[in-house]
Order: sequence, then structure tokens, then C-alpha cells
Amino acid sequence: MMEDKRWKGVYSFEDSPFIMEVLTELRDKETDSISFRKGLVKLGRYMGYELTKTMEVEKIKVETPLEETEGVVVKDRRNVVIITVLRAAIPLMEGLIKVLEHARVGIISASRGKAPKFEIEMNYVKVPQVKPEDTVIITDPMIATGSTLIKVIEEVKKYGSPKRLIVLGVLAAPEGISRIKEAHPEVEIFVTKIDRELNEKGYILPGLGDAGDRAFGAP
Ligand code: URA
Repeated sequence: MMEDKRWKGVYSFEDSPFIMEVLTELRDKETDSISFRKGLVKLGRYMGYELTKTMEVEKIKVETPLEETEGVVVKDRRNVVIITVLRAAIPLMEGLIKVLEHARVGIISASRGKAPKFEIEMNYVKVPQVKPEDTVIITDPMIATGSTLIKVIEEVKKYGSPKRLIVLGVLAAPEGISRIKEAHPEVEIFVTKIDRELNEKGYILPGLGDAGDRAFGAP
């Protein structure tokens, strides 16, 4: 995990060969829906595992069958809220919750309209109450213009102020990150890689195409 030099609190996983290999498979246009979904689940699991390295740990005593010794619990892992932004975040959440199994899960249906306006439609919101000790992880695989996420973060903030507010995605465009950090500077962002740019249709380049269409085989 490495912090990007351009922003504070923005991390990529370019130093993880395994995560980069899964990303390579997702980028490949020959990868079918089954393998694409499996790849997203894998990324959720491994990124979730990497995230625990940034969480607060408590030392505890543990009795083995032979004697007492020192152990740890990852305290923050017990207080997680995962917000799944429909639809492409579903497999990512499935992987994340394998590591963060205590998580309460919220669902938000939000999507970007067509060019040139890219207006955000938010039709369904079901979010648990957020407590001060919570780490809220908003999952959305593609951080493109950032418009959807800015609205989603605004919505999530209505449910309480967490200890940490994290956006976890697969790929991001620099434009989207800058806009999110401008609107919500305290938000931490974790992605496998920050790509080059957005094209005129709002797709990330080189990217991986439309994550929802590729995961579910339906535009
Ligand atoms: N959403 C996607 O699925 N892909 C992009 O490249 C941008 C937004």
C-alpha cells in the first residue's frame, strides 16, 4: 500500500504483485463475467485484508492449552459499516465482508446519467446508523468523475460521524479523486491503481470498461 504524492490520504496497491495480477485480469477485454466477478471478490478480500493493517489493534492475553501468552484483536474490525453502491460494488462487498465479517451493510442505488450532464440518480438508500467508533467503507469499483461518490458521501454523513470514512474502489481517475478530496477532504481513498484520465464519455483510461456491465453481463 502506498500513499499517492498528489493527495493526502489516497492510497494505491501498486506495490502488491498479487493485487496487480487480479487487476490485469479485470482489465483484459477477454475476461468473461464469471472471472470478472470472481476477480472483484478476490480484490475485496485482499484489499480488506490490507485495510486491517491501518486499523487500531488491541493487545490481549490468551490462554493456549499449555500457557498464557500475548495476542491481539483488531479493534476497528468490529466496528465497520460497508456501504455498497449498486450495482458493481456487490462482488467487491462480498470479498470485503469475508475479512470484515462483523460489518453492518448499507445499500445505496446511485448512478451517473449520460454525457454531457452526468446527473446523479439516487433511488434507494438503506444505511445503518453510524457510531463515532465506526469505520465506514464506501465501495464503488470505478471512481470516475467522482460525482456519484460526492453525493453518496453527503448522504452517508446524515447517518452519523464515523471515526474514519473510507472510499474503496478498483480504479480511479485523478479528476475524480481531486473532486472528492475537494468536497470531502477527510475522506481516505484506497484503490488498486490511479489511472491516467477520463475520456469524453466519462470512462477511465486505460480502465477496464463498464464494471457493472462486465460483472453482470447486462448493460
Ligand atoms: N464506471 C465504469 O464502470 N467504468 C468507467 O470507466 C467509469 C465509470
